[in-house]
Formats: sequence, C-alpha cells, structure tokens
Amino acid sequence: MRTFAGRRSRRRRPASTHGSFQAGELLRTLRWLHACVEQTFDQGDGMGKVVVFSNQKGGVGKTTLAVLYAFWQREKHGRSVCLIDLDTQGNASKTLRAHAQGVGAAGLFAQETEVKDQLAGQGRLALAPASKNLADVELAKAEVAIPVFCRNVEALSSLFDVVVIDTPPALGLRMSASLIAATDVVCPIELEEYSIDGVTDMLKTVFGVRQRYNPQLRLAGIVLNRFNPHSVRQKAAMRQLVQSFAEYIVPAHISTRSAIPEALSQGVSVWALAKGSARDACLEVREVFELLQRRMDAQDMASSGMPS
Ligand SMILES: Nc1ncnc2c1ncn2[C@@H]1O[C@H](COP(=O)(O)OP(=O)(O)OP(=O)(O)O)[C@@H](O)[C@H]1O
Ligand SMILES: [Mg+2]
Repeated sequence: MRTFAGRRSRRRRPASTHGSFQAGELLRTLRWLHACVEQTFDQGDGMGKVVVFSNQKGGVGKTTLAVLYAFWQREKHGRSVCLIDLDTQGNASKTLRAHAQGVGAAGLFAQETEVKDQLAGQGRLALAPASKNLADVELAKAEVAIPVFCRNVEALSSLFDVVVIDTPPALGLRMSASLIAATDVVCPIELEEYSIDGVTDMLKTVFGVRQRYNPQLRLAGIVLNRFNPHSVRQKAAMRQLVQSFAEYIVPAHISTRSAIPEALSQGVSVWALAKGSARDACLEVREVFELLQRRMDAQDMASSGMPS
C-alpha cells in the first residue's frame, strides 16, 4: 500500500561479498528474488505510473507535452490514461474536453472522492478537468489537502495504466502535491538566457521533495521544446545546460511546429492531424517520448535491482 511518503518500496539486489556462493548469500539472494516477485505482483496489481509535467517557469510547453504524452500512451500503446489538469488556465481541459468526466481536478483535494465509482465505464482516456476553484486549493491546509490528493491519485493509478498531471507554473500547493503523488517528473524547457536558472530551481524542488516526502520520485528527463539548433542564443544556453545537467537531458528535441498547437486546438494529437506539415512534428514528438519512456523503464529496472 502506498504511503504519503512513497508508493512502493524500491528493492536493491544484495551486494555479493565473495566469489564463492555461501549459505548467507544464497539466503540473501532468495530474499531478493522473493522481493522482486512481490514487487512484480505489486505493479501487476494495477498501480500505474504517475507522470507530472512540471517547470516553475511559464510557457515552456508543460501543457502541450502533457496532452501529447497522454495521446501517445493511449493511441500508440493502447494504455488507459487519466489526465489531471491542475492549471486554472485549463488549456489541457480545452483540448481534452470530450474526455471530461464527473471528477474535477479541484475535487481531488477536497474529499476522498470515490474516483473508482465515478470513473467506472468512462473511456480509456479520461480527463479530471480544471476549474476556477483550483485557485482556492492554494489556500487550503497543505497537511490536509496533500494527503487527500495523494490518496485520490493512488486510486486513479490503480484504475488507469498512466496518470498524467499538468501543473501550473508556480511552486504552490498544487505543484508540491503533484510531486509528492508522482512516480516520475518530466521537465520541459525552452532554451534561452535564463532557462538554466529555471532548471536549477526545478531540480532543487524535485530533489527536495524526493528527500523529504517521496523517495520514489524520479526525474524522467529534461525535454528541449521549441529548440532551434541554428539559434546562437539557444546554442550558448545548451552548452551551459549540458555542463551542469547532461545526465538529465533527453537527447532529442521538439522544434517550433505550427502543427502542434493546431492539432491540440482541434482536440486531437499531432499524428491524427491530416496534414503533411504534421509529419516532422510527429517524428520529433515520438522520438522524445520513446527516449523518455526508455529512461523511465531503465530507472524502474535499476531500482528493482534487475539488470537492464
Ligand atoms: N513545439 C511547439 N511548437 C509550436 N508551439 C508550441 C510548441 N510548444 C508549445 N507551443 C505553444 O507555446 C505556448 C506555451 O505552451 P504551453 O501552454 O504548453 O506551455 P506551459 O509551460 O504549459 O505554459 P504555462 O506555464 O502558462 O502553463 C502555447 O501557445 C503552445 O501552443
Ligand atoms: Mg500550462
């Protein structure tokens, strides 16, 4: 059972002390195998991933990538997805309005919503939509609202393969709650002079939450959005970013592609847009998500102690 502090325990393979296989080591290895089997059943028990798109900086592509990732998981992998829109701007809710159901995002903080009952029979892509009430969440008592939200997200993650959370561009209660409830965080950035500061702040927040509240939280990766490899300014910012955060950068990028906002304004994914100009956008978006997924899977393997 997931706790407020963390969902599943991560188990490491016991270190081998000698070359010869001794009784103590055999027992330790058996215990490790047993733990792996338990963990496999834990995951098979229906606990999906909770992926948060977050950056304290505004306008970097959090909503765009969160919605595209939800479409990608649903349409390319056949996974069931629930997107929680925590931004009062409600842009993700506008794109996915056809998938809205009874549970609003603000309600997930207020009460132990019977999310399972309310979502039963919904389509396999569901939206917990934003509303103006979300602004009031910031005034709630964190010690009450955050555990309620975490339990509701846990209930959703037992119902859906993937829960995606779009966050507002500010370190408030909603962003903190998302990071505490999440398994993985994706940090989209747009390279410019001060983007390195934004990434530094975001990583401090992620690692702070991991240390204090949610040891299983992993940084899935920093995604370069609206990247222009010919821009001198972006190239300089890229050099700075690589110097400090190379290990976290997803080695691909998404350019500024008009097909992306065009598709989302029509409520469809970029690969569902019947237009030649969407092709390059599709290729870039898919490459980024495939690499992101590979990083998440490798981190899962590493934390279960299995060779990747
Ligand atoms: N790769 C892209 N190509 C073209 N337009 C893009 C791309 N990524 C984002 N945009 C556009 O940039 C704007 C900001 O993107 P988005 O709303 O996803 O950012 P955000 O980080 O969620 O912003 P906020 O912090 O305000 O929530 C939107 O108008 C979106 O359509
Ligand atoms: Mg947004």
